[in-house]
Amino acid sequence: MSDADDRGIGRAVQSEVYRAGLSGTRPTVPVDSVALERAARKATTAEAFAYLAGGAGAEATMAANRAAFDRWRIWPRVLRDVSRRDLSIELLGRRRATPFLLSPIGVAELAHPEADTAVGRAAAALDVPYVLSNQASRSMEEVTAEMGEASRWFQLYWSSHDELNESFVRRAEACGCEAIVVTLDTHLLGWRTRDLDAAFLPFSRGQGIAQYTSDPVFADLVRERVSRLAAGGAAGGAAGPRPRITPALLVSALSIARAGARSPLIDGGIRASLRSPLPRAAIETFLDVFADPGLTWEDLANLREWTSLPILLKGVMHPSDAARALDSGVDGLVVSNHGGRQIDGAVASLDALPAVLERVGGRVPVVLDSGVRGGADAFKALALGATAVGIGRPYAYGLAVAGAAGVRAVVRNHIAELDLTMGLAGRSSIAEIGRDSLAAAP
Ligand SMILES: Cc1cc2nc3c(=O)[nH]c(=O)nc-3n(C[C@H](O)[C@H](O)[C@H](O)COP(=O)(O)O)c2cc1C
Repeated sequence: MSDADDRGIGRAVQSEVYRAGLSGTRPTVPVDSVALERAARKATTAEAFAYLAGGAGAEATMAANRAAFDRWRIWPRVLRDVSRRDLSIELLGRRRATPFLLSPIGVAELAHPEADTAVGRAAAALDVPYVLSNQASRSMEEVTAEMGEASRWFQLYWSSHDELNESFVRRAEACGCEAIVVTLDTHLLGWRTRDLDAAFLPFSRGQGIAQYTSDPVFADLVRERVSRLAAGGAAGGAAGPRPRITPALLVSALSIARAGARSPLIDGGIRASLRSPLPRAAIETFLDVFADPGLTWEDLANLREWTSLPILLKGVMHPSDAARALDSGVDGLVVSNHGGRQIDGAVASLDALPAVLERVGGRVPVVLDSGVRGGADAFKALALGATAVGIGRPYAYGLAVAGAAGVRAVVRNHIAELDLTMGLAGRSSIAEIGRDSLAAAP
């Protein structure tokens, strides 16, 4: 950890904060997770916040994710010389400084104009692997160009177009991604109450589709669509008369032009893209291909032909699916319910973890996300047997509040709290955080 000293990162962060407090300075990015969410709400538009914070239905899964952490209590041991704590883990053949990674978060431009590039810089500064989202606001090439050699993985949503899937995976490999994470819980979009009430879907406005608009295979699909419609003389379709400039169209054209610094679709900047049928056709093409609810285990086998990178499946919650995943030769699992954004009233990720781990039997790493709000939560997930822990919404909130510095602050606080929790619980390495570090809450 670059900014920890001999005392460990927890004490380093504490002393930095308290020292600044002597001259009246408080953290710009709140440490408390509820205050952090509140600050993000203030920093964003109502629609953006609804998208970032919201979940499916009555958001019972989101509540369950939190409640699951509350049902476990950390059981401390004393007098065990914890003056040095080692937070490192082994994951996918590499030593990692901490057990954290940044889960993929799409449409980061809703939080901050620097979007994914700011997250990439923060992740690189802290040496925490960043899982680049398939629904990013910036292309993977643009983001990874700012990350030096820092660790990144790529998250794939399996579209209904295999050539496009292959293109994404090959680009990710070329960008130095170390693994492909296939998210399996979003083959249909969840029933997102807040977004429905706001009638707001960022993708339909051209936000969060930068991986697509920067892709050569996707560009061909869009051009084909435009020529098809032109040949059919579709009035008002993607090739119809010049579009009327509405605020929504302006947002999409801006977003696509910004996202597609190297887009094969954008040629001539914002003005040209406003006049062109391509941005609108890009959005429609995206909405057509985005997800494939017909996907099965057999389809996954194709991925092995496209890449030699490790493959992880995200959204595996059931032990039988975990067993099936192992049979199909995957290299890791992410136990996640997408932060409660997909099914209302689903089993909490932390509750699903033990049965999945039992079935996996240590053969592949298992990452846990959904509901993690600090280092003590991470401790609990590790104690139950997770190999690593994904941070989701909190870093998006940090991004909203203070850009890259905000992401860095949030992630550093998670690491600092884990470090101190370990020390206080009498554990000086991640390997020492076992099931005996927890008691079930009465
Ligand atoms: C705004 C937002 C966008 C997300 N976008 C993606 C995505 O593009 N791909 C993906 O696999 N998961 C996505 N997720 C899910 C996260 O990767 C992660 O599973 C979730 O945030 C964990 O729950 P938590 O935020 O409550 O901790 C998104 C989550 C949020 C909040």
